[in-house]
Amino acid sequence: MHDQQQHDVLIIGSGAAGLSLALKLADEANVAVLSKEALTEGATLYAQGGVSAVLDEHDSIESHVQDTLIAGSGLCDPEIVRFVVERAYKSIDWLVELGVDFTRSDAAAGTNSPFHLHKEGGHSHRRIIHAADATGKAIETTLESRVRQHPNIHLYEHHIAVDLITTNKLAKPGNRCLGAYVLDINSNKVMVFGAKNVVLASGGAGKVYLYTSNPDSCTGDGIAMAWRAGCRIANMEFIQFHPTCLYHPMAKSFLISEALRGEGAKLILEDGERFMHRYDQRAELAPRDVVARAIDYEMKRLGHDCVYLDITHKSKDFIDTHFPTINKRCLDLGIDMSKQPIPVVPAAHYTCGGVMIDKDGQTDITGLFAIGEVSCSGLHGANRMASNSLLECVVFAHSASKAIRQSLSAIKMPGKLPHWDESRVTDSDEEVVVSHNWDEIRRFMWDYVGIVRTTKRLQRAQHRIALLKSEITDYYGNFRISKDLVELRNLAVVAELIIQSALQRKESRGLHYTTDYPAAKTTDKAANTIIKLTTTTDNHVAA
Ligand code: FAD
Ligand code: SIN
Repeated sequence: MHDQQQHDVLIIGSGAAGLSLALKLADEANVAVLSKEALTEGATLYAQGGVSAVLDEHDSIESHVQDTLIAGSGLCDPEIVRFVVERAYKSIDWLVELGVDFTRSDAAAGTNSPFHLHKEGGHSHRRIIHAADATGKAIETTLESRVRQHPNIHLYEHHIAVDLITTNKLAKPGNRCLGAYVLDINSNKVMVFGAKNVVLASGGAGKVYLYTSNPDSCTGDGIAMAWRAGCRIANMEFIQFHPTCLYHPMAKSFLISEALRGEGAKLILEDGERFMHRYDQRAELAPRDVVARAIDYEMKRLGHDCVYLDITHKSKDFIDTHFPTINKRCLDLGIDMSKQPIPVVPAAHYTCGGVMIDKDGQTDITGLFAIGEVSCSGLHGANRMASNSLLECVVFAHSASKAIRQSLSAIKMPGKLPHWDESRVTDSDEEVVVSHNWDEIRRFMWDYVGIVRTTKRLQRAQHRIALLKSEITDYYGNFRISKDLVELRNLAVVAELIIQSALQRKESRGLHYTTDYPAAKTTDKAANTIIKLTTTTDNHVAA
């Protein structure tokens, strides 16, 4: 056999979803975890607000369920919402047992939980458990310390999965995932990984937009790989724009947590006027789609570059204790948030759609699972409620681990898989094609497929992506691959899926707003947008 790696389970991604799953499987399985950058790099590391869970006796499961359903604008799967919400308490317990140091309650908190709980948009109670304003870092680094100690977990950092290997693609009977082709970024060699089960835990696709809160890793690789392998992809039009990212030339992708609004911060215009009450009676704490659209409207109406978030009613001490990361970042840029409002703009933040899965994270392909932001589980519907995402990562890691454990003994390890064929490619002579196309996609997605859409703009975007995709496919077929090229190819697929899904939805609902169809269809007509590729090919696989 050529240098094929074999593992019981191959997990593509090392955020909250991937690392939680690895830990839950490792006592009974040999697990490989891939991360295309350093292990901790990904959206999880930057999560601020926290994890939603019913932890206060005045709160209830019913209320968390209802708030999630309302935010999701008629497209959540009620059974999945209950499934996740009911498992929140246990998920938090598991994280606490692992050692995540959540902020403890203080006398002023107004709840009877031992933990301090934040409130965020759409939630009718304080139910966001957090580690100050760096919850993701606390979770990710705790998980990291555990996986690095486990002898059954094999970590492959700086390894990027390029494509899945399936029986279908190899023209063999059945519909099973057998492994993946993986580029070792340091040696520039493509490796073959065979596995009994493969799990996509590769996160979202915020980088398809010019302005985003997401780190560079969020290029939708898992969604694109699953699409090419023939999985159904759902609800890609529902891209969440976070209302408040820091507006400053030196502040690349820095979020100002919704938890500030939970503590009473107000959105104001340049002249100090509040405006959110004109759009929704919940004002600053309306769900994100409402707040982001209102800000976008005000900025366009007045020709302003940003609006402001004002938390100056809170003391310096309070801000230091509750929001130390945000405070430090602002101070570094010369903004003292205890004395002056923070300039903010909306930016692409979360991919609500993704690879369709069931309660166990099972996709349409046997042996292929998807968990976390890469997936579309039915929890978020047309708009994710704040802090429900980290929760989803842990809950689905648990359910997928149970399903995978039960299946392992009955599955044979795949035999020799075809090697990666580079006999028809050469080294690229024009890297500029890759960087130019990256920029072009992100810019037209922002301009034409952003917070407010029209059919005409979507059609313009569709023409452009068709042209770019054929250029990228040609380039991919002729040149040796690199990380940038793999990501560009995936971004182009994701952009096309978003545009196609947005054109298919002839209404405005949740995060998808189009002036051509400004109203939602009646709730009984609410339907998911589901798309599927009919033929699957792979032009680098040896015959
Ligand atoms: P990620 O954490 O993004 O991890 C993806 C992993 O996949 C990375 O390790 C990456 O290297 C790897 N990967 C990707 N593609 C490949 C490939 N081709 N090959 C190999 N590896 C690959 N949600 C909340 O619930 N609460 C919050 O407070 C909150 N705050 C947020 C703040 C910010 C700034 C952002 C950006 C998001 C926030 N979210 C929050 C959303 C939440 O953080 C993410 O949805 C969640 O962390 C996703 O976890 P994940 O494990 O699915 O993916
Ligand atoms: C935030 O802290 O505002 C982000 C919360 C989230 O995206 O769930």
